[in-house]
Amino acid sequence: MVFDNLFTSSSEEKFSPIVRQPRKGVIIGAGQVGMACAYSLLIQNLLDEMIIVDVNQHKLEGEVMDLNHGLPFVEPTLIRAGTLADGENADIVIITAGVKQKPGESRLDLVNRNVEIFQSLIPEVVKFCSTAILLIVTNPVDIMTYVCRKISGLPSSSVIGSGTVLDTARFRYLLAEKLQIDPRSLHAYIIGEHGDSEVPVWSKVNISGMHLVDENYEAGKPIEPQLQEIFAQVKNAAYEIIQRKGATSYAIGLAVAQIVQSILRNQNRVLTVSSLINGIHGINDVCLSLPAVVNRQGVTRVVNLALNSTELEQLQHSGKVLRQTIEQLDI
Ligand code: 2OP
Repeated sequence: MVFDNLFTSSSEEKFSPIVRQPRKGVIIGAGQVGMACAYSLLIQNLLDEMIIVDVNQHKLEGEVMDLNHGLPFVEPTLIRAGTLADGENADIVIITAGVKQKPGESRLDLVNRNVEIFQSLIPEVVKFCSTAILLIVTNPVDIMTYVCRKISGLPSSSVIGSGTVLDTARFRYLLAEKLQIDPRSLHAYIIGEHGDSEVPVWSKVNISGMHLVDENYEAGKPIEPQLQEIFAQVKNAAYEIIQRKGATSYAIGLAVAQIVQSILRNQNRVLTVSSLINGIHGINDVCLSLPAVVNRQGVTRVVNLALNSTELEQLQHSGKVLRQTIEQLDI
């Protein structure tokens, strides 16, 4: 080769750019969400090898070229357009494929179209990426996580959804902005469905252990209107953004990167991902978000969150909404 004389081998071993076990990830779907995930993972150096898969080859090639041109500014990452067959030995598969909400549509409105896509996609994922943790981002994410687990037959620990990690981030951002503190110094969770029935855990919102709301606030007793307004903004955030720019992308990309980091670095971070819930808070056979410990196994432990009676009722309602949706599916 013309460049052969550039280097002299100083060892008998062949040069290898990565010495430790490379971290390999597959992103399915090169739309706005998939590419925001890819970009966040790239700039946070979370993967050594990133394979992006999409039905639209032409667009996919353009996206991969664009990302690759940024490589001189980040840590070495092998990024390529591929197929699921390239996913052998992948550590993680991030699924963003599917139709997205149009202005005015709810996440649950997408269910039939996206279940149909998963029915052909998931068996292929299992066939080629059998060792990976599957991280579902496609909406309605709780239903799609459940459907993916069912179709894949994989252990529930290794099929998780991005859940309300994003809603929790929105909640913390808005509260922290109001209180003029760093959102990372405020503890607050949104649990349940990633959607219209999601639940703010007001009784646990705290800064340094100082609670913002009485732990035993009761149903019907109005919470501070300013706080109610913040939750309304969290719940309606996606609608507001979709109406203005057609889709949400950057924040979900960062949320996914945080989940992937906790998985691949085995961090045991507590995140409100969606996972199969059986027998917690009286909820059964449904995927939804509760604070859960996320590590290299995926999710094997969920925090026993002590909810007050209002929150428990709201969470059970959220579980019911999801369960009813599952029961209407042909899976
Ligand atoms: C979001 O909440 C649409 O689920 C997406 O941004």
